Amino acid sequence: MSLYSRITGTGSYLPPRRLTNADLAAELAVNGVLTSDDWIVERTGIRARHFAAPDVCSSDLGLAAARQALQAANLQAQDIDLIIVATSTPDMVFPSTACILQNKLGAHGSAAFDVQAVCSGFIYALTVADALIKTGAATKALVIGAEVFSRLLDFKDRTTCVLFGDGAGAVVLEASDTPGILASDLHADGKHVGILCVPGHVSGGKTLGDPLLKMDGKAVFKLAVGVLDEAAREVLAKAGKVAADVDWLVPHQANIRIMQSAARKLKLPMEKVIVTVDQHGNTSAASIPLALDGAVRSGTIKPGELVMLEGVGGGFTWGAVLLNL
Ligand code: UT7
Repeated sequence: MSLYSRITGTGSYLPPRRLTNADLAAELAVNGVLTSDDWIVERTGIRARHFAAPDVCSSDLGLAAARQALQAANLQAQDIDLIIVATSTPDMVFPSTACILQNKLGAHGSAAFDVQAVCSGFIYALTVADALIKTGAATKALVIGAEVFSRLLDFKDRTTCVLFGDGAGAVVLEASDTPGILASDLHADGKHVGILCVPGHVSGGKTLGDPLLKMDGKAVFKLAVGVLDEAAREVLAKAGKVAADVDWLVPHQANIRIMQSAARKLKLPMEKVIVTVDQHGNTSAASIPLALDGAVRSGTIKPGELVMLEGVGGGFTWGAVLLNL
């Protein structure tokens, strides 16, 4: 049994179809829905998003990210004994996207399951993988965030459809004698179910309720800013660190203004915040590992540095993980 778990490889994938704000605005205008690059950039920091082709599922995006992470960790698929996929846009009602992805990877026999905590999904999945490694139940885990949120968007609702995109990110988490993950913190408050939800379900072969995303943006924004700060402070306290020790903040990539506020509250300069929301919008559970992978591959985040991951999303769910890369 190992005392710690450590990220040994990262990967990510964005589907090839990229729409700038201007591209999206032009498509929406055909149906009389008006928006602009200026509004989207000013209110959110988003400049472009990627949409998967109709026959491409979360497991396909996750597979590409997982393969990259395995390669970075110098592992083969059959070395993995745990696969967790964080997604709110699974390929099927069941089986899990993790099982479908495991089969596509050509690996068989590992534990595989999905975690559904919307935009906090990757933080939840990483925390679960860390715990399973620490108990000895797993030694080499693939933790993946993969989403096709474009399938949930109401393209007549300009307050939500400009915000989200598709993508995937992955990490390999391995048992280690050195840290690794130092602390994590998970929370949820189900009384806020209604402010960010897709209030439909399948029954008797029909979709009942509404299968498209609904969000009270202002309420989400206000809650997000407060709970992210609480989670960040909680993991710092658990690990015996202070905010000034943090080399890099990798927040959920939803809105640049939420990230700026999270950094401000921790008194971290924006130079220490990894920002990729401009390139892919809000990809829900995929956004943190997408941002992390970009920063690791570009050499921005270096081995040994102290990294704070923090997520917030529907549920309401939120949490943070503090780790040494
Ligand atoms: O993973 C967690 C997921 N969610 C989030 O993180 C989202 C959190 N919330 C937000 O990011 C922001 O609340 C939004 C980006 C959704 C909205 O920004 P806001 O600054 O709160 O704008 P608002 O809702 O106050 O809207 C301001 C104006 C309104 O017009 P009026 O009433 O002032 O005339 C909207 O109708 O902007 C209008 N508007 C738009 N205009 C152009 C709303 N959406 C658009 C749009 N293009 N796409």
